[in-house]
Amino acid sequence: MPSSLLSLLLFLRTSTIFSQSRTLDAPVPWSGRFWARTLCAADHASGHFSCATGDCGSGSVECSSGGAAPPATLAEFTLGGAGGADFFDVSLVDGSNVPVLVVPQGGSGGGYPAGGSCAPTGCLVDLNGIFPPDLRVASPGSGGETAACRSACEAFRTARYCCSGEYGTPGACGPTEYSQFFKNACPRAYSYAYDDATSTFTCPTATTSGYAITFCPSTTSLKSTGYGNQMAGGLPLINDTMSSLLVGSTMSSAAGRWPEGGTPMVRLAVAMTALLLLRHGLP
Ligand SMILES: *[C@@H]1O[C@H](CO)[C@@H](O)[C@H](O)[C@H]1NC(C)=O
Repeated sequence: MPSSLLSLLLFLRTSTIFSQSRTLDAPVPWSGRFWARTLCAADHASGHFSCATGDCGSGSVECSSGGAAPPATLAEFTLGGAGGADFFDVSLVDGSNVPVLVVPQGGSGGGYPAGGSCAPTGCLVDLNGIFPPDLRVASPGSGGETAACRSACEAFRTARYCCSGEYGTPGACGPTEYSQFFKNACPRAYSYAYDDATSTFTCPTATTSGYAITFCPSTTSLKSTGYGNQMAGGLPLINDTMSSLLVGSTMSSAAGRWPEGGTPMVRLAVAMTALLLLRHGLP
């Protein structure tokens, strides 16, 4: 299946008007992933555009076919897959940069189709404030603010953390202390390569119109809509223990400059929410 790639820009230059919502019609079958790039700027002299996290290497705002440089939180989709179903997940296997929420959209009746595995998923905790220090990626050129969190695989490059080589099977590669940290914070997101059982969600293609993908959703608004208490496979969407640790820290915004000589930016991480509607096109 061809893979399509798209990245949304969350942090833009202050002079740019931010478009908060965008709709994308995907043909069925379709498979691809979405992520956010953060701390982006164009170099004054060369015009070269790059981002501190999730960069796709194109040198311009459009990604073309470039993938995300880790660390980046990924929303992954296969539409119209095996058995007439869509498969989707939010993955921290390549690390994490921003919180992401994926909510299936129902047909004419609204809401999403009932069923345990057809349910919202995501990682709603801004992990940047709380994860293990050896996984931390600092914002370039700023006062040491945290930009993203690497996966243990990327940070240490061992077969054990990457589930490769002798650890290349589900039986040989269980959770680690690092993957467990991600799993505690985001119970429904992929925390390591073989975390399928609690991390893959499925909706019937025929009764699902598409998916709402929200980058940096506000936790309080999620709770008021009832998503916060939603259980799927016995797991909550939000770990209240974790999210209560973060009150205050996630609502701050900070100014940063990056890269050197680049355009000044204001980081509006959590104050800014971006919504992408992925709709089923015609088969
Ligand atoms: C929520 O986080 C706490 C603290 O890390 C952890 O002990 C607990 O198991 C987590 N809950 C879930 C459902 O993952």
